[in-house]
Amino acid sequence: MKILVVGGGGREHAIIRALKKSPACGEIWCAPGNGGIGYDAKCKDIKATDVEAMVAFAKQEAFDYVVVAQDDPLALGMVDALAEVGIPAFGPDRAAARIEASKVFAKDLMKKYGIPTAGYETFDDPAAALDFIRARDRWPVVIKADGLALGKGVLICEDVRQAEEGIKEIMLDKKFGASGNHVVVEEFLTGPEVSVLSFTDGKVVKPMVSSMDHKRANDGDTGLNTGGMGTVAPNPYYTPDVARRCMEEIFLPTIRAMQAEGCPFKGCLYFGLMITPDGPKVIEYNCRFGDPEAQVVLPLLDSDLLTVMTACTGGTLEDTEVRFRDGAAACVILASGGYPVRYEKGKEITGLTEGQLPGAEDVTVYHAGTAVQDGRLVTAGGRVLGVTAVADSLPAALERAYQAADRIRFDKMHRRSDIGRRALQALNVQE
Ligand code: AMP
Ligand code: GLY
Repeated sequence: MKILVVGGGGREHAIIRALKKSPACGEIWCAPGNGGIGYDAKCKDIKATDVEAMVAFAKQEAFDYVVVAQDDPLALGMVDALAEVGIPAFGPDRAAARIEASKVFAKDLMKKYGIPTAGYETFDDPAAALDFIRARDRWPVVIKADGLALGKGVLICEDVRQAEEGIKEIMLDKKFGASGNHVVVEEFLTGPEVSVLSFTDGKVVKPMVSSMDHKRANDGDTGLNTGGMGTVAPNPYYTPDVARRCMEEIFLPTIRAMQAEGCPFKGCLYFGLMITPDGPKVIEYNCRFGDPEAQVVLPLLDSDLLTVMTACTGGTLEDTEVRFRDGAAACVILASGGYPVRYEKGKEITGLTEGQLPGAEDVTVYHAGTAVQDGRLVTAGGRVLGVTAVADSLPAALERAYQAADRIRFDKMHRRSDIGRRALQALNVQE
């Protein structure tokens, strides 16, 4: 099969690496891709959000299958547009992608079908939102812009003053654009967070190995929220008992709810969960693989990713095996100093040969923001590389990932030094 992967970060690199293991995978392309992905796939410089140009390119190159890996093209209906020209694609159609693209849609779905989540109200009038918030006696409150906001449209407000400022930023100043026309105001939940990505064909859901993201920029979960500074899999808080409850109370009800609403979800549905004292609850849904969750989950997949993906598209997931190997994976993100606010690009990266660490079979370097300039690999984004190690245990995977990361250098490199620490603590408690 001739395959196109839409996107250009570490997640897309991980998908490409996994797809290439399939005997059925022929020529593979990535658009827009990046410098490091260029060692594994042909790259075509088309913006992931340019649906028209992407579909024209897919037709012209006669791709057999397209994997739309990024949220915004899914929300814009790229899968629908590809279907119109007869090209099958992995990912939800526009209607199903609303589960991520509209928080109001997602919250109303959960309320209607009794899926556990934080209590909430939605508002399109800033004055009404503020009246509601001022009358609250439980703090903090969480304010979320309705639409896609690059993971930044969530504010946790400790008091009325912060909430007033938040409503102003989102609804009046339109800090996140039209995303802020509607807001969700919700209850603050506590407990460890777990990411569970799942494959679904709209009828059957098969969860992948669980994972844990580290969203804050600095050690000790301090600093600004980022796209994710590192991940581990499996997540020790996702015990067999929690997994069973999630399947019964969250995963199956969500798949059935989407079917009942007339927008069955096909692709990778990402459950962002919090394990609260009252049980697991949904913090958010994403309509795609997580980044950098994919960089630890896919290396543990034993089954053939292309077979599983086409089964999701074709509605035959029930008969398709989705198996993960034992052991653990850890991914440490190497970012540009200053990320997620302001950072420089074009710094030379040393330590890698054709994008990988020579002599480290158990380590894969996924490229998130790199470019090749005059034959040199340079930084080209906030998150630059994701260094993933797979081993028999989490401590071993973390040790290998950090050893490998220490062999890579670029000016003003920033990484967290405590990825997996909480997971290790939880494992020790369980023992
Ligand atoms: P989201 O973009 O919805 O995943 O939110 C980003 C982060 O904000 C989450 O990963 C949580 O850490 C935090 N968060 C979101 N909603 C809540 C909530 N209701 N209670 C506590 N923390 C939350
Ligand atoms: N790592 C979180 C996300 O992909 O949304």
